Amino acid sequence: MADQAFVTLATNDPYVKGALVLGSSLRQHNTTKKLVVLVPPQVSESMRKVLHKVYDEVRVVDVLDSKDSANLALMKRPELGITLTKLHCWTLTEYSKCVFMDADTVVLSNVDELFEREELSAAPDPGWPDCFNSGVFVYQPSLKTYSDLLHLVTEKGSFDGGDQGLLNTFFSSWATKDIHKHLPFVYNLSSISIYSYLPAFKAFGGNAKVVHFLGKVKPWNYTYDCKTKTVKSSSHDQTQTEPEFLSLWWNIYSTQVLPLLTEHGVVKDTATGLKAEEITESVEHMSIAPTHPTISSEERRERWEQGQVDYMGEDSYENIRKKLDSYLQ
Ligand code: UDP
Ligand code: GLC
Ligand code: MN
Repeated sequence: MADQAFVTLATNDPYVKGALVLGSSLRQHNTTKKLVVLVPPQVSESMRKVLHKVYDEVRVVDVLDSKDSANLALMKRPELGITLTKLHCWTLTEYSKCVFMDADTVVLSNVDELFEREELSAAPDPGWPDCFNSGVFVYQPSLKTYSDLLHLVTEKGSFDGGDQGLLNTFFSSWATKDIHKHLPFVYNLSSISIYSYLPAFKAFGGNAKVVHFLGKVKPWNYTYDCKTKTVKSSSHDQTQTEPEFLSLWWNIYSTQVLPLLTEHGVVKDTATGLKAEEITESVEHMSIAPTHPTISSEERRERWEQGQVDYMGEDSYENIRKKLDSYLQ
């Protein structure tokens, strides 16, 4: 339907890569919905051109515009910038219904049936299942909702400092009121749940429809070997919680996104075609620096308690197991 859209947000080049993979996966599974990506003006012209190849609409959301109501809110709460950018999705009022998806998600099958749901439908957050995870949600664009959300965030802030805390406060009846608004977990399967409930993952993971690479280390932080079609561990990550999902992301990236980036000169042209070595080289060249400063155990604990679990790095299952083993010994 022309008036329904999947919407995502990408504020910088690494997240643009994620958005391109997400958009390509939606196309690959023949969505009949429009694809919209929200970007701030900082995203380069060439990256926006590439986005146009995959998305029907590349909407520039200028949070720096002083006439923009979001900017007024930003001046009071500058730390909530990224969060407020995501809220812009409610301003897409030319669409009657939308599904927002984080740029670190990828679909494994057609998920157009999500549009049968009403606002606000979402899947439980694996860290606190009475809250929904705001990486995938069904909503109805409305300027009234947008301004009510801005009002709430400027008055009360957000309990997690991000959009998820704010949205859970705003749509506070989600946990109890209407079970139809609870999306099955397979529509937002975060890799974190693989080791927090491995038997369930083994039993039901095959039904996954949307994978969410929630957490600090994203697929684009890894490197990919095109010859073997495997993802190489990043320097800070000795374990791979779910290499199949990472490989899936990289497969889409290397076969569908990288050619577009090369064509538009974002990645250096590989004259002889996309030879495996050259792709690996380009990819390594493009990988963003791993953001893994050594942090104190107090700080790590604090982050864990705030839900910022570094599930592929410091807080990986392997590290937790080692720690438990050391206690047991
Ligand atoms: N995002 C972005 N730029 C950033 C951080 C976040 O565009 O620097 C957008 C992007 O769509 C991303 C979403 O906000 O998927 C939520 O952030 P993230 O996925 O990193 O949070 P997580 O799901 O890991 O908690
Ligand atoms: C969550 C969600 C993400 C959201 C972030 C900030 O972990 O996965 O979509 O942006 O929290 O609230
Ligand atoms: Mn996410």
